[in-house]
Amino acid sequence: MRHLRHLGCLSATFLSSMAIASCSSKSDPAPSSPVDTGVESGPVVVTYDPQGCGYRVAAIDGFPDFEATADSLGADAAPKHVRLGLGGGVDASKAGYADPSTSFAVIWQTDVDTKVSKLRFGDTETALTHVVDGISYIVPQELNRGPEAGIRFHEAHACGLTPGRTVYYQVGGSAGGKDVWSDVRSLTVAPAKGGKDPVPFAFFGDTRDALGRSDLPVFKAITGRVKVSGARLGVFSGDAVLIGADQSLWDIWTNASDALAGSVVVAEAAGNHENELVRYFAHIAMPGATKNAERYASFDYGPVHFVFVDDYVGIVAPSIDVTNYRAEVLAWLDADLQKADGNRANVPWVVTVHHHPVYDSGADKARVAERKSTHDALLSLYDKYHVDLDLAGHDHFYERSKVLAADAVATKGTTYVICAGGGAPSYSTNPDNPLSQSIVHYDPDTFQGLYGLATADATKLDVKVYRIKGAVGTSPADDEIVDTFTLSR
Ligand SMILES: [Fe+2]
Ligand SMILES: [Fe+2]
Repeated sequence: MRHLRHLGCLSATFLSSMAIASCSSKSDPAPSSPVDTGVESGPVVVTYDPQGCGYRVAAIDGFPDFEATADSLGADAAPKHVRLGLGGGVDASKAGYADPSTSFAVIWQTDVDTKVSKLRFGDTETALTHVVDGISYIVPQELNRGPEAGIRFHEAHACGLTPGRTVYYQVGGSAGGKDVWSDVRSLTVAPAKGGKDPVPFAFFGDTRDALGRSDLPVFKAITGRVKVSGARLGVFSGDAVLIGADQSLWDIWTNASDALAGSVVVAEAAGNHENELVRYFAHIAMPGATKNAERYASFDYGPVHFVFVDDYVGIVAPSIDVTNYRAEVLAWLDADLQKADGNRANVPWVVTVHHHPVYDSGADKARVAERKSTHDALLSLYDKYHVDLDLAGHDHFYERSKVLAADAVATKGTTYVICAGGGAPSYSTNPDNPLSQSIVHYDPDTFQGLYGLATADATKLDVKVYRIKGAVGTSPADDEIVDTFTLSR
C-alpha cells in the first residue's frame, strides 16, 4: 500500500522500526477520470519490518495516523474484507525475498477508531498459538464515497511457515475485555520451491463493469469457481474497478471476492483503472520496499517463477514517470529474469503477468501505441530469458498467441495470453492475425465471463480457459471450456 496523491507528508507518530525514504509536502487533488494518473506529489515511502519475518515492506505513503497495534476499539471494530497477499523482498539474490511457501500477508478493514491489529495463526483451527502484531493506517474519503472519516486498513504478516501446509488464522484482537476477531480462515501455503507435486493456480482480470454500479455478478461467479477449483493462487491481471479513487466500487469488488480472498493468495499487476492510487495499494498486499513498491515483484510458487509488473506509468504512459519507475523496473526485470532462467533445474517455468498486452488482435486503433509501448519495454527481455507464458488483460476478450520469439512464430518461445473477461465490456477483434492461435469473446450483459485454471508440474504446464455460460452453475464443471493448451519442457 502506498502512493497517496492528495495529502502531504506523513505527520503522525512512526513505529520505531519504520524508516522514511523520502518526502514531499506538495498536495494534489483526487483524480477526476479513470485515466488521469501520475504521482504528482512525489514519492513518500515509509517501510516497516513485519514481526518475525526478516524482511521490510513499504507500508505507507503520506497517510495520517499510521499506527502499531493498540488496544483501541471503535464502534464498528469487526474485521471486514479479510484478504490474503504476499510480503517480502523483490531481490531473489537476497535474504527476505518473497516466499509464498513460508509466509503470507493479510489485510482487513475497520472503522478508523479501531487500532487493534493482531494476527494469530496455527496448524489447527483450535490452536492459533502464534500471535503477531500488525500495523494500520487510515485511507481518507475521496469523491464523497465511503465513510466520511475514512477507513482504517490493517496489515499483518505470518512468517516461518512450513511449505505446503494448511494454516488457520484469525485477525483482529481484544481490548477492554471485548474480542473483535474475524472468523477462523485457512489457506494452504505454496509447496516447497521446485517441488514435484502439481500446483494449481487461476488467472483472471478486468472485473470492473461499464458504469461501476453493478454488484459485479461475473466476477462473483469467477471467484466462486476459482474457490471450487482448489487453486491456491489467484493471478489478477488488473483493472479491478472502474475508478480507483471510488471506495464504493472497491466495496463492491471486495464483496464479490471476499469468499475467495480470505483463503487464496491473490497477486495482482495493476491496471490503468487502478490509477496507482492509495486505495488500490490499500486493497492488495504485494512485496517490495522501494518508492515503487507493490508495482513489481516475483516469487517462486512450486515449479513456477511468477513475475508481476505494473506496466502503466513509466511504460504505457512514460511521460508521467516521476518516480523513475521505468528505469527501476526494467533493471530489476532484467536481473530477475536472468536469475530465473538460470534456475530452471529447480524452478522450470517462468510466467510473467502484467496488464497491457504485448501482442493481440484488438480492433481499437488507439491501442496500437499502447502495444508498442509494452512491446518495446518488455519483449527483448522476455525473448532473451525465454519466458514461457505471459498473462495480460486490458483488451476485453481472450486471446492466445502462437509460440513466438523475436516477433515471429517459433518452435520455442513465449505463449502470450490475454484473459480479460472478468465482467468488463466486451471488445472486438480483427481477423487473420498470423500470430494469433485462439480468440474467444464473451457477453457480460448475459453474465458471461472468462477465467483460466492452470496446473504446473516439473515438465508440463496445463491450461484450460473457461467461459461462464450465464447466470447458471457454481463450478468450472458448469462452464464451457473454450481453450486448452499444454506447454512442455
Ligand atoms: Fe480493462
Ligand atoms: Fe485496462
